[in-house]
Amino acid sequence: MKRFAIAVDGPAGSGKSTVAKMVAKRLGIIYVDTGAMYRTVALFCTEKGIALADEAAVVAALADLQMKIVPEEGGQRIFLNGRDVTAEIRTAEIGKGASTVAAYRQVRARMVELQQEMAREHSVIMDGRDIGTVVLPDAEVKIYLDAGVEERARRRVGELQEKGETADFEEIKKMILERDYNDMHRAHSPLKRAADAVSLDSTGMGIDAVLQAILDIVAERV
Ligand code: C5P
Repeated sequence: MKRFAIAVDGPAGSGKSTVAKMVAKRLGIIYVDTGAMYRTVALFCTEKGIALADEAAVVAALADLQMKIVPEEGGQRIFLNGRDVTAEIRTAEIGKGASTVAAYRQVRARMVELQQEMAREHSVIMDGRDIGTVVLPDAEVKIYLDAGVEERARRRVGELQEKGETADFEEIKKMILERDYNDMHRAHSPLKRAADAVSLDSTGMGIDAVLQAILDIVAERV
């Protein structure tokens, strides 16, 4: 089969990564979690003591940052200067930091280059905020996945608790709303639905139903 790409965009906690991993497994293609890349930039700068609000310093730090994504069954591993940071980047704080550094044009340019390179080499399902609009504008399938904020916050709390982190529902909900606002209102590649994306609202939908809906769309177009 010809190489193809599936772009999945949507706000925080909409279920993009969970369903994208399942689709990847079903179709035998590679899953690329682009949020992990911005999270890794945030982790790197935080560890170096760089203020994330300092755009010039964050951009300068990119020169010392080597990022490698290794696809694996059911997901990906991400390496920062040779160190596996896959688990470390999954905190709410790093998510917030990722949203700060993701607003910087030069940070985005670096990440987008890496993302496009992966899609040139493999069939992919890639999730993020600007995949259908900027990274893969010619993707065969584009999905905009959303869900009500209460449900998204509940899912995030569940994920964090599963990892043994304490998570306050109201706090997480506030962080999600702030992050979405940031992501939707930034100057460079804001989160928005691509004109040719299919909208899916997963509120109240089980994950298997979301998976099936996406597989049906893929079957029509690929
Ligand atoms: O999806 P995830 O929550 O891991 O993304 C973390 C942050 O990275 C998002 O809030 C967003 O600011 C940024 N991001 C982005 N573009 C992408 C993926 C993530 O700006 N393609």
